[in-house]
Amino acid sequence: MKFNDIDTENIEIELLLEAIYQKYDYDFRGYSRASIKRRLKRRLSLSGHATLTDMQREVLYDPDFFHVLLQDLSINVTEMFRDPSFYKAVREVVLPLLAEREIIKIWHAGCSSGEEVYSIAILLQELGLYGKSLIYATDFDETILSKAKEGIYPVDLLQAYTRNYRDSGGVGSFADYYSARYELVLMDKALKENIVFSNHNLVTDGVFGEMDLVFCRNVLIYFKRELQDRVFRLFKESLCTGGFLCLGTKETVRISQYTGTFADVVKKEKIYRKN
Ligand SMILES: C[S@@+](CC[C@H](N)C(=O)[O-])C[C@H]1O[C@@H](n2cnc3c(N)ncnc32)[C@H](O)[C@@H]1O
Repeated sequence: MKFNDIDTENIEIELLLEAIYQKYDYDFRGYSRASIKRRLKRRLSLSGHATLTDMQREVLYDPDFFHVLLQDLSINVTEMFRDPSFYKAVREVVLPLLAEREIIKIWHAGCSSGEEVYSIAILLQELGLYGKSLIYATDFDETILSKAKEGIYPVDLLQAYTRNYRDSGGVGSFADYYSARYELVLMDKALKENIVFSNHNLVTDGVFGEMDLVFCRNVLIYFKRELQDRVFRLFKESLCTGGFLCLGTKETVRISQYTGTFADVVKKEKIYRKN
């Protein structure tokens, strides 16, 4: 009989994801395996365990270790005005179309540490729309969500963020939106007034009602096709007719079963509108 180590590793991954789901109710089973595998193997070598099966034991018996692994699997990379041309399109195309609404309801799904949420809050303020906007910012990772609520970022990122802000069509001075304290900057309190941060899992939780605009950028890229479909259905049901859906540059609704539900608004920036 021939034994295949690759197969064994794949079996271990499936069992570990099942164990995480059963013990902690976080469901990574529908995530694409390439990045899950990379992350698990990185943690395996850092933890000193010989195999994923050994590591699974620690995950099951030590909730603190599970939280370390949750951070690994969440992938929280983000930045202010990430992809400036996208934010330019939101400023110039999307928000003017929503300007006449009595209230503008926005959902940031997978908001990570909040940089993209504050970016939109700044845009809304510059267009005079912040006062009538309500922003729901959600993520399934409680640790990263508390960072988002705090809105405190390392000062050394500011140069890049200021450049992004300018490239995205920012009309003011980015320095007006934060106060610097030693190595950190704190986002302006006024930007937080209409933001509600809350825990929401795209895999297991339900819809947000009557949204005008949904941002879900650089999250679906980690999901398999079937899971992407679940999330697109969630967005379809959460958006009002004529509402906008914004994805990341490497993501698309076009290969999903909901392609007919959404029309292109700015194709290159993956901005869609619900028919
Ligand atoms: C790469 S970050 C993207 C952050 C931001 N949207 C951006 O584009 O810069 C992906 C975020 O999605 C969150 N995430 C992953 N799976 C999720 C799920 N099932 N439900 C909610 N958030 C999830 C992660 O915790 C992480 O903060």
